Amino acid sequence: MDRQFWDDMYGSRDQLFSGAPNGVLVSEVAEMPPGQALDVGCGEGGDAVWLARRGWQVTAVDISRVALERAAAAAADIGDRVAWMRSDLTGTPLPAAAFDLVSVQYFPLKRQPDHKALRRLLDAVAPGGTLLFATHDLADLSADPQQGFDPGDYYQPDDIAGVLDDDWAVVVNETRPRTAPAPVGTHHTHDTVLRARRLR
Ligand SMILES: C[S@@+](CC[C@H](N)C(=O)[O-])C[C@H]1O[C@@H](n2cnc3c(N)ncnc32)[C@H](O)[C@@H]1O
Repeated sequence: MDRQFWDDMYGSRDQLFSGAPNGVLVSEVAEMPPGQALDVGCGEGGDAVWLARRGWQVTAVDISRVALERAAAAAADIGDRVAWMRSDLTGTPLPAAAFDLVSVQYFPLKRQPDHKALRRLLDAVAPGGTLLFATHDLADLSADPQQGFDPGDYYQPDDIAGVLDDDWAVVVNETRPRTAPAPVGTHHTHDTVLRARRLR
């Protein structure tokens, strides 16, 4: 699932996702005071735009040029509150301790023995800040050998909770029903959610 894969995926339809913010983001972040946010794999920008309209300063990163162009077009009126960046987040350095919120919504974060990419995301959270990670429940996913896709290759909240040390407090680690219809062509019914606060 490289740059080309995602550009082709977005290019195959006029709009891939609903444009609405993800339910997990809304339920977990609505009460937080705004600050600096990193939207990891922002896609067409529904979450980044919602955050920006609530006063957050957002760095929204995605590997897909097609998705970012759509996102920026949808956010023309809040351009100064969102920085759209094209980058491969599995290999790009991030500023340390810079974000009050690092939001990872359905981002395909592949497991690594040394957790290198995951640790980069964790390090980007400022002391007092929050990591919010949401993905599809494994029970809703099946392997696709033709695409080389195995859901077990990707982090689930429990894996990440196991990597966190005493500098972190887990606030939420659970499976919950989706609040929005599944994206077109999918049958997802449940999300798995990790919300963790960096203490120091
Ligand atoms: C399933 S989509 C989710 C998009 C958005 N977070 C949402 O919930 O609507 C995954 C997104 O991650 C992006 N992505 C995948 N691999 C990436 C990588 N290595 N670096 C940056 N973005 C990536 C894709 O282009 C895609 O927009």
